[in-house]
Formats: sequence, C-alpha cells, structure tokens
Amino acid sequence: MEPIPLLTPYKMGQFDLSHRVVLAPMTRQRAYGGVPQPHAALYYSQRATPGGLLISEATRVAPARRDEEPTSFRDMPGIWAPEQVEAWRPVVDAVHAEGAVFFCQLWHAAAGNGDDARERQQVSPQMSYDGRREELTSPRRVAPEDAPGVVDAFRRAARNAIDAGFDGVELQGTNGYFVDGGGGGPESRCRFALEVVETVAREIGGHRLGLRLDQFTAEPEEHALALHVVSRLNDLGVLYCHMIEPKVDGRRRVSRRLLPYREAFGGTFIASGGYGREEGDAAVGEGYADLVAYGRLFLANPDLPRRFELGAPLNDCVSATFYGAGVGSAHPAVGYTDYPFLD
Ligand SMILES: Cc1cc2nc3c(=O)[nH]c(=O)nc-3n(C[C@H](O)[C@H](O)[C@H](O)COP(=O)(O)O)c2cc1C
Repeated sequence: MEPIPLLTPYKMGQFDLSHRVVLAPMTRQRAYGGVPQPHAALYYSQRATPGGLLISEATRVAPARRDEEPTSFRDMPGIWAPEQVEAWRPVVDAVHAEGAVFFCQLWHAAAGNGDDARERQQVSPQMSYDGRREELTSPRRVAPEDAPGVVDAFRRAARNAIDAGFDGVELQGTNGYFVDGGGGGPESRCRFALEVVETVAREIGGHRLGLRLDQFTAEPEEHALALHVVSRLNDLGVLYCHMIEPKVDGRRRVSRRLLPYREAFGGTFIASGGYGREEGDAAVGEGYADLVAYGRLFLANPDLPRRFELGAPLNDCVSATFYGAGVGSAHPAVGYTDYPFLD
C-alpha cells in the first residue's frame, strides 16, 4: 500500500515527528481570567499523539491595556505572570505524557493603535476565517516609543514558555499586525517584526522558534514585505515558518500561493488554512509543505491523524462553541473536550 504522505515521519530540527498533521493554534477563550485551566490539559492531551506537533492557542505576552479589552479577547491565556507559567505546566506535562511536541503561540494585542474595532477585525480568528479576510487592510503601527517594551514582553514570555516546559514558541504575526504600517521600504516596515524575531531567537535560540505569517493582503507590496521577512528568517536560524493559505474565491480550496515563501525559506514550512486530508496529502506529497496545520477539523476531531489513517468519517465542528462557551455554566467542556473519538 502507498504510504499516506501526511502520516510519514519528518524531522523538524531536533524534533522527530511521526506524522505531518499539526494542531493549528486556536483561541478558545476558556482560560478564565487569563490563567490556563485544568480542562486545557485534557483538551490538548486529547489531540496529542506520539511524535505529533501541537501549537497552543494565542497566548498573551503582556496584560491587556485597560482600553483594549473587547469581549472578543476575553479569557485568552497569558504567560507573563508566574501563576500563568505555573498553570501552563500541567497542560504541557499532559501533552508530553502523550509523546507530543508542544509550541506556545505568543501574541501581543497592544502592538497597535488601540482601535478596538480594528483590532478585533485584525486578530479575531472568527473574522479572519469566515471569508472576509480580504477586508483586512493596512497593518497597524507600533508607536516607536512602545516598541522596546513590546519586544521585551515577547522576550520574557518566550523565556516563561520554556520555563513552563514548552518545546518552543511560535510568534503570532498574522494579519499584518507585526508590520509597521508607515512608509519606507521593506527594511523599515519590517524592522519591528524582525526585531521581535531576533530578540526571541537570541533569548531561546532559533532552533525552538517558529513564526506564523500570512500574506498580509493580496497587494504586491505586502507580498514583498512578507517575502522579505521570510527570507530574513533563514539568517536568524528560525526553525519553522507557518503560513496561512489565502483562500481562492472564498471556497475551501487550496491556492498554492505560498510557493514563493516555501521556496524562500530553508527551514520547516507549515501550511494551514482550508486543508482537508486530500489537500494535505497532495501538499506534502508534492513538497509544497513539510507539515500541514489543521484548525477546525482538529478542533472537532481529537483523533484526526487516526481518522486520516483509516479514512474514517469526520465530526462536524460547531462554530457556536468555538469561543468561551460554557463560561459560568455547569458544562465548561461543551464544544471543547466533548468531541467524540472514533472508539
Ligand atoms: C476557533 C478558532 C480560533 C483560532 N485562533 C487562532 C489563534 O489563536 N491564532 C492563530 O494564529 N490562528 C487562529 N485561528 C486560525 C487557525 O489556526 C487556522 O489557521 C484556520 O482555522 C484555518 O485553518 P482550518 O481551515 O484548518 O480551520 C483560529 C481559528 C479558529 C477556527
């Protein structure tokens, strides 16, 4: 029988992965008060397999500013305070007990201009994945006086993530929020993004650092920016580049538009966005991506790699319980840890 490309082993730097089916980062808004809860240990360990790679939900590197907490960000976890680091530890341990590799996605909401409506649009996955991506416009600017503080928050959070036991961190740079909206060439517009990457690489080492990016917009200029960032990652020894596949006609079809980035980056390339099993197999089989990160399918199918292996039917995901369902109710696990396994 032909091997299933998604289920073949892959060596990602020092990590021996047994398959290519990655858990994509997904905000679930069940870390009450910004502190990971015990149910997160169950949620992630359900999706862990020996030699599998999991990426955590977006995790704040610094507290929300007072004026910057739209409800869409409530109960996202953080990793700046000691009690958050302590609370992450059993979650990481539970994943490691299953033999999986676990990266923490680091995110900073305040690296912008404080415009709530805009921020929502920029980072709310709901907004990003319901076909309205194209509306995302010019990236937000980091005020020059804020930049050093934000860079340092990323650095400390990365250190904390390693202290909590994570195998590495992924910097959340999608929706262009990492890129300076001001004028100038790629060098100056990407300065902040690259400074964060460089600083974190210096802190924990590029061998356990990934960056998540998208194409920003379809504008050629934005494409050039993304390409500039990606090619610089090589010099910094960054382990992986994780990119979101732009949609074609708003349908669940894979565009292959990431090819220039794949070719520009020398490390592990992860593609994500709208993949099913067949698309993932084709992408890996053709060498278009090394790994494929699955969001909604993995959310709804804790045993997704096994289902792929068996060609088994998949559970449907319920979007009503993506975010924070069950807060204050008797059943916090609804839509979170209660998706059924095959057996
Ligand atoms: C509920 C939900 C939460 C998400 N949260 C994040 C997040 O915290 N960070 C991130 O980079 N992407 C986030 N995403 C995007 C996913 O990682 C993934 O790129 C997207 O769902 C497309 O992949 P899919 O078609 O396999 O679902 C989220 C997506 C969903 C559905």
